[in-house]
Amino acid sequence: MNVEAHAEKLAIDGGVPVRTEPLPWELPGSHWIGQEELDNITQVIKGRSPFRYYGPQLGHMVDRLEDAFSKRIGRKYALGMGSGTGALLAAFGALGVGPGDEVLLPGYLWVSCISAIVRLGAIPRLVDIDDTFCMSPKDLQRKIGPHSKAVLFVHMSGAPGDLGALVKIARDAGLKIVEDCAQANGARYQGRPVGSFGDVAIFSFQLNKNMTSGEGGMLVCDDEHLYKRAFAIHDMGYARNDEGRLDPADSNYQLWGIGCRMSELAGAMALAQLDKLDKITGAMRSAKWAIREQLATIPGLQFRRIADPEGDSGPFLICTLESPDLCKRFAEALHAEGIVGQTGSMACVPMESWGLHWHFNNQSLVQRRSQSVSGWPWSDPANAFAADYDYARGTLPACDDLASRSILLTIASCLTGKDVEDIVMAYRKVADALM
Ligand SMILES: Cc1ncc(COP(=O)(O)O)c(C=O)c1O
Repeated sequence: MNVEAHAEKLAIDGGVPVRTEPLPWELPGSHWIGQEELDNITQVIKGRSPFRYYGPQLGHMVDRLEDAFSKRIGRKYALGMGSGTGALLAAFGALGVGPGDEVLLPGYLWVSCISAIVRLGAIPRLVDIDDTFCMSPKDLQRKIGPHSKAVLFVHMSGAPGDLGALVKIARDAGLKIVEDCAQANGARYQGRPVGSFGDVAIFSFQLNKNMTSGEGGMLVCDDEHLYKRAFAIHDMGYARNDEGRLDPADSNYQLWGIGCRMSELAGAMALAQLDKLDKITGAMRSAKWAIREQLATIPGLQFRRIADPEGDSGPFLICTLESPDLCKRFAEALHAEGIVGQTGSMACVPMESWGLHWHFNNQSLVQRRSQSVSGWPWSDPANAFAADYDYARGTLPACDDLASRSILLTIASCLTGKDVEDIVMAYRKVADALM
C-alpha cells in the first residue's frame, strides 16, 4: 500500500483503505494449539480416563497442571476448575462471604465477578476505576465501610492496576483479597506474577484467554483451610480420599458443592498451553508496545496507563479520545481503513459496546434481580445496609466516562510485522484527519 495514496482521504469518505484483509482472530491461545495438545488429549482418550479422580488408566493431567501452576505463581495450592466463573464462586465461598457482607469490586469487570457475590447472598459495592482501567486506590479507600468483608481486584484487559497501593489499603482495612486474573494470566507486577498478591486468586482458560482449554480455570491460595473449603465447594461439597472417592467424614468440610471440577480433557489441553503461555504473552506484548510506541506522539490520543509495562500480558490496546463523539467517529474510520476482525471475531471495539464488562450494562445488577420470588439476597434483612446502593450508569464518574470515550483493539498473538504496520498507519491516518 502506497502511503501517499491514502494520506489525503479517509476510507470512510471514499478514500483508499489502509488494508482490506481482516486482522487475525483474537483468541490468544488458540493460535498455538498443536501437536502438544493433541498428544496429551490422545493420552487421555487412549487411557479411557477423562475424569480426574479415578479411571482405568489415569494420566493425571489435572494433577500435573496444578503442580506446574502452583509453582509458577508461587502458591502452595492450585485447584483446577471447570471455569473461571466457578472459581470465583468457590473463592468467595471458601472465604465465607455471605449475607451481611459486602464485596468491593471495580465498575469495569466481567459479569461473573458480580454473580459470584450475589449468588452467595452478599452485596456488591462498586468502586471507581482510574486511568489504569482497574480499581482506583483512592475510591477504594473512600468506599470501605463497616460491612466490607473482601475486595476483588480484577486485572482487566491483560494487566493489573496499582496493585501495591491497592493491596496495602485492603490489608490495612483487614479485608480479604481475591484477585481475578482471568484476563491477565501470565502478567506480572513488579516482578511478581499476578495471582500471588491476594488471599486467593482465580484464572480462566476460556477461549478468549491468554491460554485456553476451551473451558476451564484455576484457583490458587496458600492457606490449607481455604484450599480445603474451595476444594469441597468446587466438587460435591465434601473432601475426597486417596482413592478419589468422596469422603464426607470431616465435619469441617461438609459444605455445598457447585460441580465445577476440571476434566482430564481440559487439563490435558491446559497443561500443553501452560508451556506456551510466556511465548503467547510475549508475542502480544511486543506487538502491542510496538504499536503504542509508534503512536505515542499523537496529541489527544491517551493510552491506558499500565502500572508495570514490563509485566503487561498484552492482549488489548486501549486508547481514550477527547469526547464520546470523536471516539465513535474514530472507531468507524478505523473500521473503514480495514482495522476489523474476521467475521464473528472482535478486533476494534468502541468500549461503549463492550457489553457485560461495564457495571451499568449488567441489568441483573442494576435492576437487583433475584432468582427467587423472595427477592433474595437484596431482600435479606442482613443486607438492609445496602438499600440505597446504586449500580446504574452515572454511579462511577471515571469509569462511566472512560467507557464512553475509549477504543479497545484486540492484539492477536500471531500479528505479523505487516499487521502492526497497518494498524499504526491506520491510527495515524485517522488521527491526522479527525484531530
Ligand atoms: C474478568 C473475568 N472474570 C471471570 C471470567 C469468567 O471465566 P469463565 O468464562 O472461564 O467462566 C472472565 C471470562 O470470561 C473474565 O473476563
